[in-house]
Amino acid sequence: MERHRSWAEPWKVKVVEPIRMLTSEQRQEALEASGYNTFLLRSEEVYIDLLTDSGTSAMSDWQWAGMMLGDEAYAGSRNFYHLEEAIQQYYGYHYIVPTHQGRGAENLLSKVLVRPGDYVPGNMYFTTTRLHQELAGGTFVDVIVPEAHDPTYEGPFKGNVDLCALEELIARVGAERIPYVCVAGTVNMAGGQPVSMTNMRELRELTARHGIRVMLDATRAVENAYFIQQREPGFHERSVAEILREFCSYTDGCTMSGKKDALVNIGGWLALNDAVLYEEASNLVVVYEGLHTYGGMAGRDMEAMARGIVESVQDDHMHARVGQVEYLGHKLIDLGVPIVRPVGGHAVYLDAKAFYPHMTQDQFPAQALAAYLYADSGVRAMERGVVSAGRDATTGKHHYPKLELVRLTIPRRVYTQAHMDIVAESVAAVYGARAGASGLTMIHEPRYLRFFQARFKPLHTG
Ligand code: F0G
Repeated sequence: MERHRSWAEPWKVKVVEPIRMLTSEQRQEALEASGYNTFLLRSEEVYIDLLTDSGTSAMSDWQWAGMMLGDEAYAGSRNFYHLEEAIQQYYGYHYIVPTHQGRGAENLLSKVLVRPGDYVPGNMYFTTTRLHQELAGGTFVDVIVPEAHDPTYEGPFKGNVDLCALEELIARVGAERIPYVCVAGTVNMAGGQPVSMTNMRELRELTARHGIRVMLDATRAVENAYFIQQREPGFHERSVAEILREFCSYTDGCTMSGKKDALVNIGGWLALNDAVLYEEASNLVVVYEGLHTYGGMAGRDMEAMARGIVESVQDDHMHARVGQVEYLGHKLIDLGVPIVRPVGGHAVYLDAKAFYPHMTQDQFPAQALAAYLYADSGVRAMERGVVSAGRDATTGKHHYPKLELVRLTIPRRVYTQAHMDIVAESVAAVYGARAGASGLTMIHEPRYLRFFQARFKPLHTG
């Protein structure tokens, strides 16, 4: 019988950045100074930074070499054309509008397509995406499959669109009130869960019957393609690149945060296949981002992103990237820690409701858990629960998401398995001390995307 063999990253380290852990007293002080919000910590106060996989990737020597080839012309930079070619080749869309990051593209798309009174169905909300839809006068409607809300359910494609729920919405409000369906692959707020190719094909067929567009949030679509290769019958022999291209072919365009899959520190784009919509978007981008051949990015950043796209679709890269996330996830499962199952593509999500059943959601259990984790070891994570969900635009009440999670997000090509071991031990220690944990109260609440800048204090001290 063939023995199981280990795999390793398809790169070696060329440059290192020192990191250090503050003392326990210093960490406690930092936590108080930051209002128990990990977004308000200074990076220097953090030991292992799992706040986000956004803009935190390590670039390759080939990408850095590309940075030296930046053509910083105001108009028509050659790097724009490299970027356009890479997106056309690997994602398959016709027209590209560069933006400074994903939310820049969301702003343009919402302004071009959403009208007051419209409904925008999506496979679970994302914070900035939904806010742009709302600011344009639309109402987001969640049409993800119900099992996405159950952290213990082991389904291969928990990011799928619930086609019956979508059909019901179309029947209720009318196709003319739905400018597009917003599909994200993988689904960040559901634990990094993927969408199947079958679901995309069926979604395409259903929406085509009603004349409704499908817009992809392609932020982590390459990771989604890797899951299709690994989990969906018929795709095992196909490359991640081929799968990505087919996946995108069922959509009419995409918004993209290049800061994730595309392995850069800044950048994004809006892609469209419709010439009329492109005309509108390439006109609007000059108002909010910059000329349509740079959209808020320097030439060098467009070059790094064009090269990052090529690297991101390599099978061995994706194997190591998702493999590291799975390594941490399975370690935590072995330690008995409750996490969202199965392990997602870019992060391991701790189930804060299961950690702290004695806290109500009004006591912000995920926010508290992220704070306890930082206090234990200087590991920085992110709340993805009631604080991130915000308030209902009409009633002003908290959204109470079923999932109350803490996200341990793994930057690409940055940390080693040894860092993952430290993280797992710290999470296990915090889990061991769960009975004595207490919740938080919010003492400052910003109006938009409150999770970034809200401040808290402990309900009970000592
Ligand atoms: N869509 C998804 C699914 C995202 O995860 C993000 C960003 C965006 C859109 C917006 O892109 O940040 O470039 O403007 N997610 C980051 C995160 C912030 O930490 O998950 P952006």
